[in-house]
Amino acid sequence: MTSVNSKFNASNLTVLGIETSCDETAAAVVQGPVQKAILSNTIRSQIDEHTEFGGVVPEIAARAHIEILDRIVSEAMHEADCTWDDIDAVAATAGPGLIGGVIVGFMTAKAIAMAAGKPLVGVNHLEGHALTARLTDDLEFPFLLLLVSGGHSQFLLVRGVGDYERLGTTIDDAIGEAFDKTAKLLGLPYPGGPHVEKLATRGDVNRFRLPRPLLDRPGLDMSFAGLKTALRTQAKKLEPVDEQTVADLCVAFQRSVSDVLAARTKSALALFAERHPDAEPAIVVAGGVAANQEIRSALTAAAAEANARFVAPPMALCTDNAAMIAWAGIERLQLGPVDDMKLSPRPRWPLDQDKAGILGAGKKGAKV
Ligand code: KG4
Ligand code: ZN
Repeated sequence: MTSVNSKFNASNLTVLGIETSCDETAAAVVQGPVQKAILSNTIRSQIDEHTEFGGVVPEIAARAHIEILDRIVSEAMHEADCTWDDIDAVAATAGPGLIGGVIVGFMTAKAIAMAAGKPLVGVNHLEGHALTARLTDDLEFPFLLLLVSGGHSQFLLVRGVGDYERLGTTIDDAIGEAFDKTAKLLGLPYPGGPHVEKLATRGDVNRFRLPRPLLDRPGLDMSFAGLKTALRTQAKKLEPVDEQTVADLCVAFQRSVSDVLAARTKSALALFAERHPDAEPAIVVAGGVAANQEIRSALTAAAAEANARFVAPPMALCTDNAAMIAWAGIERLQLGPVDDMKLSPRPRWPLDQDKAGILGAGKKGAKV
């Protein structure tokens, strides 16, 4: 990817992207596909507004998006040094996610597209994550994606733009959600992942042995709710829990999650090799949990063992952002004209329609 501002390259598209599906308000201007460049990538996290509630509060999120989105879009346009004339299309997340926020972002994008006379692309947020590695690492199809965030935990086979197969998913909590709930029950602040990771460095990994849920079963599905319950049971037995015990529980939890992810990654890569024997195997990791060093090392080792390429886009593009939405818009526009003015925002929108309908409702819709 080039960082050169080359917005006047005639064969390139310049797309404004908007992302509001969870607790980040984001806008970006991205160019491609010939000469790829992120001209701006503006983001404002709402974490401070949600911390005291121990998780994302949908109503607070929607209101915060309304208050700031105009400014974030202006900043992204300004930083990219673009006028509306330079923009070829507007792309915005149309789902899945917290519906209040999705409505704010998608309706704003509709208004901008209409006023500026540009085509509108309604992007599936998961597709944004799935295609990011083609912006950052020029990855060719097909490849595997492991998405591990606060709302999603899934293995996806990415065969092409709009051509996805979900190979496995959590059947209960998303991984980030499990980190957050574990942190909460150990008295650590939200979001819990980074706190659990930090304390884990001081923990004794041999003191507690937590389960590796579902690993005795074939397939690529995962489960994390039982792990959290097992941890709670251990903690209750030892109440009042001292600092060392908290660290020991953190490292045990983190090791279980890494083991489950590494084992499932090996199976996913074996399945990939069966399905696409002639393709160079590659696995991309995305989502906030990918920041975790132990998990990253476990995934890197699992990929190396299978002689597969391991791709982890820079963290700012791995977690929620609008550059990935703009890029997905560019990828979609390459396939032909798009006009999503009649598209409605949706809280649930599985990438793999054949596997639609999984249990429960996570913070971003179905826990898929
Ligand atoms: O992708 P993300 O920023 O937002 C969405 O959920 O869409 O992911 C946030 C999640 C939170 O649950 C957070 O606790 C987790 O990622 N997380 C981590 C770490 N950093 C963030 N989990 C484990 N270890 C970390 N270092
Ligand atoms: Zn996301």
